[in-house]
Amino acid sequence: MTLSAETLDELRQITARYPQARSGLLPMLHLVQSAEGRITPEGIEACAEILDITPAEVSGVATFYTMYKRRLVGDYHVGVCTNTLCAVMGGDEIFAALKEHLGIGNDETTDDGVVSLEHVECNAACDYAPVVMVNWEFVDNQTPESARRLVDDLRSGAEVRSTRGPAICTWRQAERVLAGFPDDRADEGPAAGPASLAGLRVARERGWEAPAAGGTDAEDESHGAATDTDPDDAAAVAADEQADTSRAESEAKLDEGKHEAQEDDA
Ligand code: FES
Repeated sequence: MTLSAETLDELRQITARYPQARSGLLPMLHLVQSAEGRITPEGIEACAEILDITPAEVSGVATFYTMYKRRLVGDYHVGVCTNTLCAVMGGDEIFAALKEHLGIGNDETTDDGVVSLEHVECNAACDYAPVVMVNWEFVDNQTPESARRLVDDLRSGAEVRSTRGPAICTWRQAERVLAGFPDDRADEGPAAGPASLAGLRVARERGWEAPAAGGTDAEDESHGAATDTDPDDAAAVAADEQADTSRAESEAKLDEGKHEAQEDDA
């Protein structure tokens, strides 16, 4: 496949975002994956030429990070966490079930090109173990049965929604977002779930609070940037933080309401 003039132009646009052009290499590689379905030799050459570095330097980055793929990825990259906590909570069984159900092994893609399977390391979603990711969106608290249903839905073209995110798009679309070309769906879906907010709830119930700002001179110095912040900026940051917290809390309440309704039904 040949990189289009549009893709080459977008690769150059990425470099312009950074004081040093080569800082754009990671998003550039995501854009290559969005256009080509994987990191191709041509994509490596294009990045090297635009950044005026060697193909070996680009290749060294592309082969270091596991999010860059040298083989074609299907429409949906299904990553099953098999790191310690997810593994003991059922991640190993889920991975084995999907291998058997899809008839593919690790880092392979189904014949119809729809699903790629990979066992992945901790996704920082241990509070929802065992967790599966589809195109890097969370699908929490999975079982072998629910994971089989998940890939069946993906293969049938049914809409699949992330537990804590938007409806799942294709891998190439997701790669384009990772390249810094947003699809304006970042705020779709819940921002947080009850497990992530449990600490906050317990702290509120027990009246625990963070220590007041202040402390030693050394601490004051290390927090100098905050002290020097424009009052208008500080107010804006505080308002944003309050909005995030309120949103997360209202989602947790909704979730608790759902749990209570389910318990009543039972
Ligand atoms: S161990 Fe699976 S998300 Fe952390």
